[in-house]
Amino acid sequence: MDGKEVAVVVQEKIKKQTAEWIKRTGQTPKLTAVVVGKNAASQFYVRSKKKAAMEVGFISEIIELPAKVTEVELLACIKELNQDVTVHGILVQLPLPQHIDEHKVICQIDVYKDVDGFHPEQVGALSIGLNGLAPCTPAGIIELLKYYKIKISGKHAVVIGRSNIVGKPIANMLLKLDATVTITHSQTQNLAEITRGADILIVSIGQPHFLTADLVKEGAVVIDVGINRTEAGKLIGDVDFEGVKEKVFAITPVPGGVGPMTISMLLDNTLVAFKRIVS
Ligand code: GUN
Repeated sequence: MDGKEVAVVVQEKIKKQTAEWIKRTGQTPKLTAVVVGKNAASQFYVRSKKKAAMEVGFISEIIELPAKVTEVELLACIKELNQDVTVHGILVQLPLPQHIDEHKVICQIDVYKDVDGFHPEQVGALSIGLNGLAPCTPAGIIELLKYYKIKISGKHAVVIGRSNIVGKPIANMLLKLDATVTITHSQTQNLAEITRGADILIVSIGQPHFLTADLVKEGAVVIDVGINRTEAGKLIGDVDFEGVKEKVFAITPVPGGVGPMTISMLLDNTLVAFKRIVS
C-alpha cells in the first residue's frame, strides 16, 4: 500500500476545497505548530507539516520555544493561540521536555482547534463513536485501508502497542468499523499466537523489525507505524518488510506508508476545524 500516492490524492482534494472556502469566506485556514527544544526528529516533523500545509493553500507557522521554556510560559503561548481568531489549528509536537506535563498542555488547547485529536474531550468522543477530530496517524491508517478496499467488518484486527497516539485510538476506530479488536502490549503473553490469528495487524511499538514472518498469518494485511533510525541513519519500520511481504495480502512500507497519511489527515483535520470555526 503506497501511502505517498494516497496522500497526494487526499491533499489534492483538500487543496481544491481550501481554494473554494477561501473564495467564499475571504479567510484562509491557518495551522500553527509549537515545537519545544531542538529534538531533530520533532523539528523535521513540524517542518514537513508546515510545508504540506502551505502546499494545500493554508497559512502555517512554527513557534519554536527553547528547551528550558517553563510550563507556565508554554501554557500562556497556547492560550494566546486559542484566542487568536486567525489560527484554526494548533498542534504541540510531542514529546515535550520532562519538566513539562504533557497532559496539562494538551488540555490547554482549545478543543475546536485541537487538530491532533489528543484532547480528552475528543478522545472521549471517539470512544463513544461521536464525530470529532480523530488523531491523525490512526485516521490515516483507516483512510489507507479504505482506499485499498480492505474489508474491516468482521475481521480480527490485532494492534501491537497501546499508546494514546496510535494503539488506543486505532483500536477504537477499527471497533467502530465492526472489526473484532485485540490490543497487545509489552506484557502480553503468547503474543505470537495472537498475531498469527490476525487478519489485520497494526504494529506500533518502536522496535526495529520486530514483526517477522513467523508472527504473521498467510494473507494478512500488515500496517507498519514504526519509524526507527538505524545507526547508519536509514529509516526502518517495526516490520521486517522484506521477510513479511511475500506472505501477506497487503503491507505498508517505511518510509512511504503511514507517515505521509498522517500529514494528510492533519491537513484534513485543520480544514474541518476551519470550516467549523468560520461557519
Ligand atoms: N509526536 C509523534 N506523533 C505525533 C503527532 O501525531 N502529533 C504530535 N503533536 N506529536 C507527535
